[in-house]
Formats: sequence, C-alpha cells, structure tokens
Amino acid sequence: MQRAEINAKLDLDYAGSEAINTICSNLMFSGKNIKKIVVTSCEPNDGKSFVAMQIVSNMAKRGKKVLLVDADLRLSVLNAHYEIKLSGQGVGLAHLLSGQCMLEDALYQSNIPNVYLMPIGTDVQAPLSLIATPDFDRLIQAVGETFDLVIIDAPPVGLVIDAAEIARSCDGSILVLEYAKTHRRALQEAKQQMERTGTPILGCVLNKVTMDRLSTKKYYSYGGKYGYGKYGKYGRYGYSKGYYRREDEQKGKKKDK
Ligand SMILES: Nc1ncnc2c1ncn2[C@@H]1O[C@H](COP(=O)(O)OP(=O)(O)OP(=O)(O)O)[C@@H](O)[C@H]1O
Ligand SMILES: [Mg+2]
Repeated sequence: MQRAEINAKLDLDYAGSEAINTICSNLMFSGKNIKKIVVTSCEPNDGKSFVAMQIVSNMAKRGKKVLLVDADLRLSVLNAHYEIKLSGQGVGLAHLLSGQCMLEDALYQSNIPNVYLMPIGTDVQAPLSLIATPDFDRLIQAVGETFDLVIIDAPPVGLVIDAAEIARSCDGSILVLEYAKTHRRALQEAKQQMERTGTPILGCVLNKVTMDRLSTKKYYSYGGKYGYGKYGKYGRYGYSKGYYRREDEQKGKKKDK
C-alpha cells in the first residue's frame, strides 16, 4: 500500500464539530450494512468534498477504518485543496479502472490514523466508461469488505450522471445542499435522480449556513460558515438538522428549502 500525507487542517469550530458529530452518529445508526456511501449535491462548490472529508475524519476518530474514494474523475481538486501528497507515481482510481495498476497501488494509507485514500490519479475525459462498469462495482464491493466505511466523493448529480452511476454500487447516498443557494426544484431533481438508482438517500446536509443569514440583527452580528457563538442555537442550523434519516423523509419531515 502507498502512503499519503494530508497536510490541511481539518479542525472545525465547536458548532461545526457538533454538526458533523450528529451526522456521523446518525450514520452509525443507519445500519451495519450501510458501509459504502456516495456524497453528491446539485451543483459544483456546494461542499461535497468538505463534507466527505469531515465525515471520514470524524469516523476515523471513532475508531473506524475509513476509505475516502475521490470519484470526481472529471475535475477533482481534492489533492490540492487538502494539500495531499501521494507517494510513488500518484496512481489512483482512473489507473485502476483502466487496468494500469493493481488495487494496492491505488490505495494510500494516510498520516491520519484510520484514514485511507484512493485518489483519482488523473483526470479522465469519459469517466462513465470507467464508472458504469462491472469493474467499478467489483472494486467498491471489494473495498467495502476491507474497510468499515467507504465514502465516495462524487461530482454534482445536477450536472453529470456519474454520482447516480456510483450510487448503484453503494449502500446509500448523502445529498449536500448549500444554504440559500440550492433551489427546491434542483434539489427535487437531484433527489429523483438519486432515488432512481434504487439506493436510498440517507440524508441531506445543509451546508455553508451562516449565522447572519439565520439570525436577527439584534442577536447576531457575525457569521461563520456554520454559525456559532454565544447566542447561536447551533442545533438549528449547520449540518445537524439538515441531516435527516430516511424514515423521517418518509414521514414527511424533509427539510427542503
Ligand atoms: N461548511 C463549510 N465551512 C467552510 N468552508 C466550506 C464549507 N463547505 C465548503 N467549504 C469551502 O467551500 C469550497 C467548496 O467546497 P468543496 O470543494 O467541498 O465543494 P464541492 O461541492 O466538492 O465542489 P466541486 O463540485 O467542485 O467538487 C471550498 O473552498 C471549501 O473549503
Ligand atoms: Mg468536490
């Protein structure tokens, strides 16, 4: 197995860590067969990679052996964003699926305990020819046997179909919504697209909620990405209440914008 160094800081403020804690606790109770999870959203920049990385880091701290698969084969910026340095030639998912390397060459043990990575390796012009294949499915099933949890960072399902194809090999999906940006219609379409795969949507994460947007001027005068502070009812926003379990959705408790 190769080595990877993740140099970016993953620490969150109090409200952020509480929100991620809630998401991960919910995931832990989703069932023991929910191990392979794809993370997608409607549009670029909603925070899929951020949420994926935070879930991986949180679950690893809980003692789970977690693999983060970068499946944004068209336009991944994960390595640059998280200052990830890979050993060897930096081969990854693209090389593996195109038969240019073996599984162990595309797997990287990171400097964070219990965190493993499978980078894309290289951008691909036609990712579907690699993803919508039995080989991809076999790969995901194989890593699902080896790791306690496999989080797959996918492109936005509102733009390309890759995430839905990836979901077919997974046990569940998570939809990331950007607060005050994701439109109801776009979310409905993304939801339908993901549901057509037959893989359950485990929940939504309402991301990039700023305190100033939810607050009244009287009590809140500053904002962070999740909102935090003395007066912040942090349970109301950030990720925590944006995440809902499938049963809640069926009972009509969905938190669509
Ligand atoms: N909750 C958050 N708090 C702070 N920064 C965030 C948060 N969510 C996302 N970001 C920042 O927003 C930017 C976009 O996030 P990210 O790269 O995770 O989005 P993405 O949905 O994966 O984008 P893409 O569609 O390009 O893959 C990044 O700079 C990231 O650090
Ligand atoms: Mg991303």
